[in-house]
Amino acid sequence: MFNKISVQTTTKDDYFITIGENLLDELNHFLLAHYSTEKIIVIIDQQVHLFHNDRIDQSLQDNFAKVLTYVVPSGEASKSLDQYCSIVDFVLNAGVERNTAILAIGGGVVGDLAGYVAATVLRGIPLIQVPTTLLAMVDSSIGGKTGINHSKGKNLIGSFYQPKAVYADVSFLKTLPKKEWVNGLSEIIKYGMIETPELLDELGELVKQDDFDNPGKWVSVIQKSAAIKVNLVQRDVKEGGVRAYLNFGHTYAHVIERLGDYDSFSHGEAVFAGMFGAVKASNLLGAEINDDKLKPFKPYYSFNLSSIADRFDEFIPLMLRDKKVKDSNIRLVLLNAMADPYVKMIDNENLIHESWKYILDHFN
Ligand SMILES: NC(=O)c1ccc[n+]([C@@H]2O[C@H](COP(=O)([O-])OP(=O)(O)OC[C@H]3O[C@@H](n4cnc5c(N)ncnc54)[C@H](O)[C@@H]3O)[C@@H](O)[C@H]2O)c1
Repeated sequence: MFNKISVQTTTKDDYFITIGENLLDELNHFLLAHYSTEKIIVIIDQQVHLFHNDRIDQSLQDNFAKVLTYVVPSGEASKSLDQYCSIVDFVLNAGVERNTAILAIGGGVVGDLAGYVAATVLRGIPLIQVPTTLLAMVDSSIGGKTGINHSKGKNLIGSFYQPKAVYADVSFLKTLPKKEWVNGLSEIIKYGMIETPELLDELGELVKQDDFDNPGKWVSVIQKSAAIKVNLVQRDVKEGGVRAYLNFGHTYAHVIERLGDYDSFSHGEAVFAGMFGAVKASNLLGAEINDDKLKPFKPYYSFNLSSIADRFDEFIPLMLRDKKVKDSNIRLVLLNAMADPYVKMIDNENLIHESWKYILDHFN
């Protein structure tokens, strides 16, 4: 059983996202129908390789003369120029041709890194994304953003490059550590806030029943989340309009991540806290959103912000350095009501301060 979402892009490189359990046969059918069977390149996260390589290798060996596998060390540090160069060497040494496919199997790190390799080698070779984290299934594998980090900042080198297909096989999630599940939760909660509030109820049931060991039950929530991202992205492929709604909570989150040196708080934790700020700011501007929508998820997060609470003076300057800033106003994604987002330039420092106080009160 699987679900398919069709993604239309402006470049006519339309593709499908397939979501379900045990999709490797399905993936192989797709590969055999479209690409050279002489060789296939697999760029895979180290942990995923450890837990799942037997299954992956077996299914590909049956269909391809050569399966060339590059294992990427786990972690954000791999989104580097060094890893990029090393994978480019590997791919070129493998004798890649224009119809040799690259499989990117892993979380957002491998998806972004291998995606950028695929975008740039021979000016573009076919990329198939196989996301293996919750976050990658609902967010990073969708939308065509690829790239690596630079010492000046995250994701500063990259390009928009659409995959030929995405296969989100939830069987991979069986080995996903709990903290990575929680990391992905925040983006699903965000989709519930900006687009489909019923998703919060469905997600609430899954987490309440502690269904983290039962990924099959997550197919519906992942499918709905992916569909929301697809919808926003295809209405606005290169950002500027409705795609900005995906940044709900993120302007606050970037400050939290930065003050924690990208170490103390995960992106998901920072986004979860950031959404409280965005709700408060929305309400100060006239909305009436009950934060009971967010609170039921709080027990699944085990962080507090006491380590950054005394750095209150740095919040606004750091928000002003966010790349979403326009004309020295802070650009926030807010809600008129649940599922009714808008973008607003804020020049009212008081409102920003109030919203930060609200965040800190909840996570002290
Ligand atoms: N391209 C985009 O649009 C976009 C959007 C959001 C985030 N991102 C990027 O995504 C990255 C974060 O992605 P992520 O949260 O998936 O992190 P990640 O890729 O680092 O994966 C998180 C951890 O989970 C492990 N892992 C992955 N799959 C596993 C599995 N099935 N079983 C066991 N362990 C597994 C990895 O080894 C790693 O330790 C960041 O670099 C971020 O910039 C990109």
